[in-house]
Amino acid sequence: MSATLITNIGLLVNTREENRLLRGQELANLPTIQNAFIIIEHQKIVAFGAMENLIHHTQTITDVIDATGQIVLPCWCDSHTHIVFAASRENEFVDKIKGKTYAEIAASGGGILNSAKKMAVATEGELFDSTWKRLQELIQLGTGAIEIKSGYGLSVDAEIKMLRVIKALKQKSPIPIKATFLGAHTYPLEFKENHQGYIDLIIQQMLPIIAKENLADYIDVFCEYGFFSKEETITICKAGLQFGLKPKIHANQLNLSGGVEAGVELNAISVDHLETMDDKTISLLANSNTIGTLLPTAAYFLRMPFQPARKLIDNGCAIALASDFNPGSSPSGNMNVVVSMSCVQMKMLPEEAINAATINGAFAMELENEVGSIKVGKRANLIFTKPISSLPYMPYAFGSNLIDKVMINGVVVS
Ligand code: NIG
Ligand code: FE
Repeated sequence: MSATLITNIGLLVNTREENRLLRGQELANLPTIQNAFIIIEHQKIVAFGAMENLIHHTQTITDVIDATGQIVLPCWCDSHTHIVFAASRENEFVDKIKGKTYAEIAASGGGILNSAKKMAVATEGELFDSTWKRLQELIQLGTGAIEIKSGYGLSVDAEIKMLRVIKALKQKSPIPIKATFLGAHTYPLEFKENHQGYIDLIIQQMLPIIAKENLADYIDVFCEYGFFSKEETITICKAGLQFGLKPKIHANQLNLSGGVEAGVELNAISVDHLETMDDKTISLLANSNTIGTLLPTAAYFLRMPFQPARKLIDNGCAIALASDFNPGSSPSGNMNVVVSMSCVQMKMLPEEAINAATINGAFAMELENEVGSIKVGKRANLIFTKPISSLPYMPYAFGSNLIDKVMINGVVVS
């Protein structure tokens, strides 16, 4: 039997005996061990602790990694992405710089419908290859678990195509992937005047195939003015629940859309975005089991006010951080940037941001038994930093690549 020993870890971060979703003040508590070791067997953490206690462990070690001066953290858990897409949209980005509004871009065929047009003609093979490359890049950046949504198909064929690609990625990927069905991302042109017709298509045609082929874990709806109302969101999510898909909802990005209310009523795993919150929705969320997932790079890219993280945390919400990687509003899946931006722009403490991007992100994908903290039995998905002076140096030095190497299932991948 082979075992890997990591020695002399300067600081081992997020060491936890039990799995618990962190809310409010708990987020600021990030347990660490100085001068630590980890032992890995069969891709999993089997022991860890302070170096002086290493003598009590008698495994037969076959590999030793010396991590002198390095910080070791659990890999990022990115619980909200749209990384299956057929083409980038930097032309819209430039149009916006020149002053075009979102509505003008959408009217000239841009936005989600632009991505849907490209998606319609892409093959499963092409989509798999381009997404696989994206996934490899994200792993190098420290992502060790990820959620991926459909939602650029907007037809039975194309939504199923996207979900089959995600299923194929799941089978090949070294990191765990959760799949979310986002047929209700926007209305395709042919249903512009017939919203009920598209909702019927989702419920009567897409969902049965998804359930039969076991293509998704969750259901998502873009609950927003001009997109899906609170009532429509509830209808679609309830249909998803009947097929075993729990809700994770796009809520309150642009308006007080009722998305948070819908999510709490449905006992959703998470409500995501939350740029637009008032005291009522904050206290509703704080008193629920639903996680609030913040996507600061989307707010940044759309030049919108950032999510009110401080208020959410101070009122006792359970907060996760994710990248929202997609071609329209967050063309980056770099979780190091997400963590740094959360500290700089939302005044999250480094400890809060790291907890939100690891253990709480794991909870937002129901992967808390596999990833998100340093715990015996979890996957050895680890980030090794370059030698740095302290943990807050990570979000502070926002422009530097501070990752020395990433380990996935006990194997160094970079
Ligand atoms: O999460 N808000 C809706 N959907 C995506 C972006 C959609 C797009 O422009 O492609 C988001 O930001
Ligand atoms: Fe999104």
